[in-house]
Amino acid sequence: MNNDIEKIILDEKEIRRLVKKLGKKMTEDYKDKNPIVVCVLKGASVFFTDIIRAMDCPLEIDFVSASSYGNSTTSEGSVAIKKDITKNVSGRHVIFVEDIIDTGRTLKTLKDMMEHRGASSVKLCAFLDKPSRRVVDIDADYVCTDIDDMFVVGYGLDYAEKYRNLPYIGVLKEELYK
Ligand code: PRP
Repeated sequence: MNNDIEKIILDEKEIRRLVKKLGKKMTEDYKDKNPIVVCVLKGASVFFTDIIRAMDCPLEIDFVSASSYGNSTTSEGSVAIKKDITKNVSGRHVIFVEDIIDTGRTLKTLKDMMEHRGASSVKLCAFLDKPSRRVVDIDADYVCTDIDDMFVVGYGLDYAEKYRNLPYIGVLKEELYK
């Protein structure tokens, strides 16, 4: 798999540093709140296991699966929930964890859904953010780092379901997807 990578943009050491730093901030913000931290499957699964262990406070976990349909560059697209969370969020603090925010549709849909269900607060956490790709008005509350619009894989991120288990974030060679 390493031969398919043009260049590494975040190596394991840098990922550890970024996650630790963000986890510290989230620990301070949530130390008395016992939040429900929700992993948005499947891409976030790797970052999720790291960020919850970087949070030194009581928390509960849950999982959701969603998929986006429609044009990726316009705001007309819908998100379908394939697997809902199992917990009652009424009166609870919820944090969604994503590997990457692109158009923003997935997190906007999930946030609206939890607010509708009566969550006390809903915050959004992502390892990577691509602000230049946003088509809906949404900002993440916790982001490890922003990136330009390039095709990255690894640390949970896939191309055709491959590369999720690379321990770093790398740019995929163009000839593999063009
Ligand atoms: C990716 C990513 C986010 C979503 C972000 O998931 O993991 O969930 O897209 O895009 P958006 O901001 O435009 O909504 P994908 O649908 O590829 O599924 P996966 O996590 O299973 O790879």
